[in-house]
Amino acid sequence: MPIDLPIRPRRLRSTPALRAMLRETELSPSDFIYPLFVVHGAGVRTEVASMPGVFQLSIDQLAAEARSITALGIPSVILFGVPAQKDPVGLENFDEDGIVQQAIRAIKAAVPELVVITDVCLCEYTDHGHCGILNVGDYPNLPAGYLLNDETLEVLAKVAVSHAAAGADIVAPSGMIDGAVAAIRAGLDSAGYSVIPILSYAIKYASAFYGPFRDAAQGAPKFGDRRTHQMDIANAREAQREAQLDADEGADMLMVKPALPYLDIIRQTREQIPHLPLVGYQVSGEYAMLKAAARNGWLDEQKAALETLTSIKRAGADLIITYYAKEAAGWLIAGKLSA
Ligand code: PBG
Repeated sequence: MPIDLPIRPRRLRSTPALRAMLRETELSPSDFIYPLFVVHGAGVRTEVASMPGVFQLSIDQLAAEARSITALGIPSVILFGVPAQKDPVGLENFDEDGIVQQAIRAIKAAVPELVVITDVCLCEYTDHGHCGILNVGDYPNLPAGYLLNDETLEVLAKVAVSHAAAGADIVAPSGMIDGAVAAIRAGLDSAGYSVIPILSYAIKYASAFYGPFRDAAQGAPKFGDRRTHQMDIANAREAQREAQLDADEGADMLMVKPALPYLDIIRQTREQIPHLPLVGYQVSGEYAMLKAAARNGWLDEQKAALETLTSIKRAGADLIITYYAKEAAGWLIAGKLSA
């Protein structure tokens, strides 16, 4: 005997066709940005131990890599470089023959339409592994080893200009240094690169989920941590301040990082600043977690990975930086073919 129940949401879930037609969020390979780690040397393709399926690549590997990324429908890559030598300032970071500058030219020569984003930070280039210039005693009122904000801004502007000169399409400051967007904007504009957009890592938390990345990019701090500049993991109101500041300084796009543990922040930023494109970064630890569980047979990797990526988009991200980009694009294409 049917009971009186006029509203039955299950009516709209009864067939695959209905579910597909009513799906609110659709992932596509065009949502993804694929991170690449570039290293000196020739013929190098070294898998990162804590990130199965992710490789450090030498320049000669990049043309083929760029073609395979493009063939999957992924529109963009973000580059991280491991320099030949490290020093207190990170000189290779703004050298026209630095590893990232070489990588930009190699990718652009092979696939000009692939959008090349560069990470603009000091941590991979400095011998101390910190994201800026450190106080070594010039400022007795500050602790030794304190990251000097304004001295770092000068270097960041130089790095961004050097990436633009090598052919980068977008620069992405990732250090959470106050004023980085304004300094880079001024540097780019005065060097003739007013057309180059800035994707700001506007809201980046001092997260434990960057561990595997620091193996891949060899940029772990030799001492201390990044908590004087990256955000406290417990804060959400402060994220609004960071987002607004970067928008006011002229950021063209904003990023929230990590993604999955901060879906609330992605949603909040989407609503707070609706007119700027928003990127979520599914970071190395998020990837490593899924890979580890999958390798143990504890999760269905394809379903779990696509679920996390869908969640990031549903929360409000337009684009997702993810180490799963190539695999996920492959799954999405295969799914379309078999549907
Ligand atoms: C800094 C940078 C980091 C990541 C991206 N850019 C490391 C850090 O802030 O310590 C982490 C990305 C990831 O974990 O996947 N250049």
